[in-house]
Amino acid sequence: MSDMIKGVGSKESPLVSDLLDHDSGSVPECLKAEGNYCPESRRVPFSLYYDSNYAALEMEHVWKKCWQYACREEDVPEVGDRYPYEVGSLSFIVLRSAENEFRAFHNSCLHRGTKLCSSISSGDQVRCPFHGWSWNLDGSVREIPGQWDFPHVDESYRLPEVKLARWGGCLFINPDSDAGPLEEALGVLPEHFKNFDLANRFTLAVTQKKIRANWKHTWAAFLEAYHVAETHFDAVDFNGDSNTKYDCYDDGNTVISRLITPAAVPSPGLGDKVTAREAAIAAAQSFANALGPAAQASLPDFDQIPDYGRRHVAAWRRETMQNMLGADASNRCDSEMLDAIQYAMFPNFGPWLGEGLPLMYQFLPSGDNPDESLFTVRLLAPVPDGMPRPPSAPVTQLGFDEFFESLPEWGRIAHVFDQDMSNLPVIQAGMRAAAPERSYMMLGRYQEQRIRLMHEFIDQKIAEGQAS
Ligand code: FES
Ligand SMILES: [Fe+2]
Repeated sequence: MSDMIKGVGSKESPLVSDLLDHDSGSVPECLKAEGNYCPESRRVPFSLYYDSNYAALEMEHVWKKCWQYACREEDVPEVGDRYPYEVGSLSFIVLRSAENEFRAFHNSCLHRGTKLCSSISSGDQVRCPFHGWSWNLDGSVREIPGQWDFPHVDESYRLPEVKLARWGGCLFINPDSDAGPLEEALGVLPEHFKNFDLANRFTLAVTQKKIRANWKHTWAAFLEAYHVAETHFDAVDFNGDSNTKYDCYDDGNTVISRLITPAAVPSPGLGDKVTAREAAIAAAQSFANALGPAAQASLPDFDQIPDYGRRHVAAWRRETMQNMLGADASNRCDSEMLDAIQYAMFPNFGPWLGEGLPLMYQFLPSGDNPDESLFTVRLLAPVPDGMPRPPSAPVTQLGFDEFFESLPEWGRIAHVFDQDMSNLPVIQAGMRAAAPERSYMMLGRYQEQRIRLMHEFIDQKIAEGQAS
């Protein structure tokens, strides 16, 4: 049964658990851990991806009720710095109100409703661009121009605040004033990330891309590796796509999921066409190409290493981490150095664990339009040992028809993202063209379980909201 549902690993492309057993480092328990939950098989109607009534339900019962990832602390490094967090038609100001204090407010003026913050900006007050009403960083009223005309406006006109909490260097908000603590929503994340210090990392690159597809499509593009063979056909030589391990966790409060796609092994779909050695060499070359000329020059002479394999690539990755970033990775196992280990906390938080691909994702609906979404991806590097935190890279923007490959900071990963992005509008359009009697997804039992989990999560939130 396990072969049937987890893909048949050839001798050269073993399952993740086999790889971890032979890992040359000390493997953290969280990587070996098995999820405790498998979402039910279900038919997911295509209409959930384009129906504006369903999008309105999501806004009301998911986005107004859930803990969600707004930005990183380093996005607002100085007191007074602020970040407009926009989700659908909702908008919040997330700001650093004191050295080690953050607050979030509804992004709307209490005079006549003008949006108060439209871009990443800074200042010792929040000031409306229309008539100049202003507030202090703690939300208290600062100045009402022409106060004589507003005897009915008193000190109670504080900016309405929303819940904000911190984890792993990230700022989360929840518009629901009755919400429980963030910890309830994080589930297994703190336990799984306890040896991978997300807070002590800085942003090397961050990009927000507009996409002509529903936000759930953009999420789903990263919830499974089943698409790799077709979409990323040029990466199968060194990625064990169908070897991917999927785990879902449900603790009664929240659901968390993750996948582990092993790198430096060939896809089982290649049969005997690519050996383990060739896969390891291809992986090393791919990492080096992403890291630039210095890394390329540091690659070994493969001809001298007849048994070149995963452990060699991982060892070289540890060296490049030390030499290029000044970061000690000696305690990281091979899997943490190489593999794609990607977590999901719905509705919008996608942190990666390890140095294989140290990314962080955010998925958001765009305005009231269910056919559009925003995808924010950042590349996080460890703060060099004993050094001050380097400044965060500025956010770059990509429009609907712009490509990651136009942004040099993304190196070779840009090509992979552009492959994923190119699918999305086509999926959105294709769903609307479906025959009425076949207008639902036919999800795989194992590899697409995280997509089922996402839909369970959303539907449960909507059901809870409608029942209350
Ligand atoms: S609308 Fe903001 S000051 Fe008038
Ligand atoms: Fe992909």
